[in-house]
Amino acid sequence: MNRFAVFGNPIEHSLSPMIHNEFSKELGIELSYEKILSPIAEFALTANEFIEGGGKGFNITLPFKVEAFNFSEELTSNASAAGAVNTIKVENKVIIGENTDGSGLVNDLEKNLNESIAGKEILIIGAGGATQGILKPLLDKNPEKILLANRTPEKSVKLATEFLKYGKVCGFGLNQIKAKPVDIVINATSASIDGTMPDLPGGLCEGALCYDLMYGMQSQFMKWSFENSARQVSDGLGMLVEQAALSFNFWHKKSPRTDSVINLIREKDDL
Ligand code: ATR
Repeated sequence: MNRFAVFGNPIEHSLSPMIHNEFSKELGIELSYEKILSPIAEFALTANEFIEGGGKGFNITLPFKVEAFNFSEELTSNASAAGAVNTIKVENKVIIGENTDGSGLVNDLEKNLNESIAGKEILIIGAGGATQGILKPLLDKNPEKILLANRTPEKSVKLATEFLKYGKVCGFGLNQIKAKPVDIVINATSASIDGTMPDLPGGLCEGALCYDLMYGMQSQFMKWSFENSARQVSDGLGMLVEQAALSFNFWHKKSPRTDSVINLIREKDDL
């Protein structure tokens, strides 16, 4: 049976094995999918052992996405722009790195939330690894422009400059955000993990689709969006399942259904 896995630290709570098992059941593809806890300093060693043991591909979650980028021998264009890899396949002994996070977000917005990106004004809060992973796939869909706001303005300005070759994007500080509504607001900060949210002017999200990349609970940002008249509010569960579907397709060349898996997780975990 072909071996697949997800590497992370911690990894116990990963939903990836359940998601990939559901996809493989639906499409009748036999595989095993393991959770592998890699020691922090030993990602390459653990990954090499898995490949030598017959592993055909694996996902990579925090904190190893940049290590996986360096570990890859070839990169897709999304992985190369993201500077990080969340999916590896071994093909003819070559280690190929892909990043499906950004396209997973795009698919969740377009397919599940019925939100087209073309022509829209998008505000992304945060300029860390998560933002770097989603910028190119979003810009490839031709939004009117992407505004990139970060607590540390130097980081958003630098990131915007690097991504200008893919489309219209401009970087500035959080305190320079205007209270004027935009079409889509994406929270890509790590603030939700600490149960906090960036300081944002309320007028910003009036009538907007507000999206938190985090999933697993209703974040402060999501509560704030509801209270400030957002048109629609979403967590990042759909993005998680969509990025998994794209990884599945990268390995097996088949596209699984995602809606039933998203519903299954929401029912099971009461999300
Ligand atoms: P990730 O890989 O999840 O993007 P990261 O690279 O550590 O994580 O980046 C975290 C992002 O969240 C950064 O943009 C950070 O802002 P700074 O660059 O100014 O540090 C942002 N962030 C985290 N907590 C925040 C908060 N309470 N308010 C505003 N921004 C916050």
